Amino acid sequence: MLVTSRSYAEYEAMFDLKELPDSVLDCCAGGAGFTAEAAARGVDAIAVDPAYELDHPELVDSVRRSLPATSGIIGEHEGSFVWHWYGSPERKDQLRIEAADRFLQDVAAAPERYVAAGLPDLPFGDRRFELVLCSHLLFTWADKYDRDWHETALRELIRVSNAEVRIFPLVLQGAGEPIPWLPELLDSLEGVTYEIRKVPFEFQVGADEMLVIKRA
Ligand SMILES: C[S@@+](CC[C@H](N)C(=O)[O-])C[C@H]1O[C@@H](n2cnc3c(N)ncnc32)[C@H](O)[C@@H]1O
Repeated sequence: MLVTSRSYAEYEAMFDLKELPDSVLDCCAGGAGFTAEAAARGVDAIAVDPAYELDHPELVDSVRRSLPATSGIIGEHEGSFVWHWYGSPERKDQLRIEAADRFLQDVAAAPERYVAAGLPDLPFGDRRFELVLCSHLLFTWADKYDRDWHETALRELIRVSNAEVRIFPLVLQGAGEPIPWLPELLDSLEGVTYEIRKVPFEFQVGADEMLVIKRA
């Protein structure tokens, strides 16, 4: 799986963020610039990803390699992507390069914000974060992780959240197919309400909805 670097602007649009609460977890953060930008805005922001176990040169290499690799995948599935949000491939690459730079700068300056761990076991207490974000792991990799893994992972994201969990996108990577067991999985959760909400972002065709889970 690629250690990609989405920008703060992409996170704002994917998760339809207006204001950030006091504390936010980005799981799986990869090389995203979100945590650095949120922290610069005074938010208690933490990023978690198993890739942070890599030593610094290996992490730099993984993050830098993800951009050409992503562009290659997009090129192979041209009809599966739309460009109205980015405007052009050059603009997308510019956002990703800037985000990768921001991430690499911040991970060196404030390593305590970047926690090496992964779902379904997060090293945080119950209700630690007001908002928990998950971009491009759950559901999008449902061909790699099965339904039971998703249920355990989802319950873990809910456990560490005090108010809301937001997940984007809700379709399989590549083909962009819906996840057949998603409605049944959501109905099986206790003590939460959920909503599937349209967001002002679309890149993979049909991937323009996020899941919002609210804790009671
Ligand atoms: C496609 S990237 C998304 C990164 C970032 N959220 C973004 O939008 O650019 C997926 C990330 O998930 C991480 N990952 C893989 N398995 C994971 C797990 N079990 N728990 C948390 N993160 C995981 C990978 O290391 C990778 O950085």
